[in-house]
Amino acid sequence: MVTVSGLSKRYSKEVLKDLSFELEEGALTVLMGPSGCGKTTVACMLAGYIAPDAGTLAIDGRPITAAGPDRLMVFQETALWYWMTVLDNVMFGPRASGAMSAGEAREKALGLLRKFGLHEFRDKYPGQLSGGMRRRVELAQAMINNPRLMILDEPFRGLDVMTRGLMQEYYLDLFAESRRTTLFITSELEEALVMGERVLVMDERYLELKRQLMATLYLPEHRVDGGSA
Ligand SMILES: Nc1ncnc2c1ncn2[C@@H]1O[C@H](COP(=O)(O)OP(=O)(O)OP(=O)(O)O)[C@@H](O)[C@H]1O
Ligand SMILES: [Mg+2]
Repeated sequence: MVTVSGLSKRYSKEVLKDLSFELEEGALTVLMGPSGCGKTTVACMLAGYIAPDAGTLAIDGRPITAAGPDRLMVFQETALWYWMTVLDNVMFGPRASGAMSAGEAREKALGLLRKFGLHEFRDKYPGQLSGGMRRRVELAQAMINNPRLMILDEPFRGLDVMTRGLMQEYYLDLFAESRRTTLFITSELEEALVMGERVLVMDERYLELKRQLMATLYLPEHRVDGGSA
């Protein structure tokens, strides 16, 4: 469904060199690599926020040249508007783009908040929520747009170990229900193994060899399907 081919990017130094991979429809793929190896750069290219120096990205065979509602990104830092209530935050995207009427957006947002266990908190402000709850609001904020591809850039970074474990289970349940094609980015092996049906490894040491290596590790069965990795 997503094809990335020969991606290169240089800032003051070379960040990506000839990077290629594919994302399968309905799969949860993990992109793992150490801090600074270029994971967020790849995510921003898929989202259409930045352009590569060389290489191509395509979704459903169409080249990615700009941001679009078919691809949504949840960032490693919180992106909620602290002056808006939880409900308004979730409704904001489709309202701002004009994709839904106020009534429709409100109904969808309330449905998602119910699913995310946040319905009672709809009139609270982000500052009144715990870190895990804010992350769930962000997921709802992305899901309301019904994207073809979810890009989650270290979405649980900074959460305590227990909350993180719960959020991982939470997303896996959600994924099992929707099978929405997901690229899940992490810098931690343990999280990669918990989350990934398939783990793509980006290792910056290979940059010295003038080539970016993507090793693909296929896990036998996905954990949500009762398999063990
Ligand atoms: N706009 C920019 N201008 C200059 N350099 C940049 C820019 N964005 C990223 N970089 C550099 O590119 C490299 C890759 O950054 P990127 O944020 O993609 O890494 P990352 O793998 O997401 O790291 P982390 O795990 O810490 O989030 C880093 O060395 C970073 O300093
Ligand atoms: Mg990053």
